Amino acid sequence: MTTRLIIALDFPAAEPALQLVKQLSPQDCKLKVGFELFVAAGPDFVRQLVAQGFDVFLDLKFHDIPNTVAAACKSAANLGVWMINVHAAGGDKMMLAAREALVGFQQPPKLIAVTVLTSMDKVQLEKINITQSPVEQVSHLAVLTKQCGLDGVVCSAQEAEILKQVCGSEFLLVTPGVRPVGSQQDDQSRVVTPLTARKLKIDYVVVGRPITQAKDPLAVIRTINQDLA
Ligand code: C5P
Repeated sequence: MTTRLIIALDFPAAEPALQLVKQLSPQDCKLKVGFELFVAAGPDFVRQLVAQGFDVFLDLKFHDIPNTVAAACKSAANLGVWMINVHAAGGDKMMLAAREALVGFQQPPKLIAVTVLTSMDKVQLEKINITQSPVEQVSHLAVLTKQCGLDGVVCSAQEAEILKQVCGSEFLLVTPGVRPVGSQQDDQSRVVTPLTARKLKIDYVVVGRPITQAKDPLAVIRTINQDLA
C-alpha cells in the first residue's frame, strides 16, 4: 500500500525545501507544493521532485473561468504531478472543464476540489451571502464535485464522516490539521491525530510543521506512517 502521508513543503525557497527532501524517500511520503514555494521556486522545482520519484500534490487551488482553469490543469498535468486541485465554488462548468482537460494524459493527476476554506466560519460565509451553515455548504459542494467526476475533496477531519456518507467510500478525502500525539497545534484550531484520521477513513493526511520543523523529521514520519497503516 502506498503512503497516505502528504508532507506540506511550506518553505520560502527551493533550498530549505531540498534540505528536507534529500532526507526523504518516495515510499514514506508524498509532497505538497503550495503557493509559497511554487511562486518562489517555480515549475522546475516541481519537475525536480517528480524526477526523484515523489508523488507531488500541486496545491494551487485554481479558480477562474472554465477555459483558463482547464488550461492551467493541462499545464500542471504536463509537470507529471500526482494530484492537483480547484475551487468547487468555481462551479460545475469549471470543474467539468478541468476534468475534461485531463483526458488523454497517460497518467492524469488526481483532481480534487476545495469546498469551503476552513478559515471561513458561519459569519464569514454570511458576509459573502451564503446563509447555509459551513457543513451544509461543504456537503453541497462535495456532492457537486463528485457529480462532475472529480476524485475527491480537501476537507477538515470534522467533515470526514458526513462526506464519506454522502459521497461514498471511494471519494478521496485529503485532510490537513493532523497532529501526532505530543506535537504542537500551531495555528490549526481543531486537530486530530493520525490514528483518528485512520478511523475516520481519511485517505490522505497533510502534515507540515510537525515534520518540517522537527529535529528528527524521519522519526516523526515513521510514527505517523505506523499510525496510518
Ligand atoms: O503545518 P501544517 O501541518 O499546519 O500545514 C498544513 C498544510 O495544509 C498547509 O500547507 C496549509 O496551507 C494546508 N491547509 C490547511 N488547512 C486547509 C487547507 C490547506 O492547513 N483547510
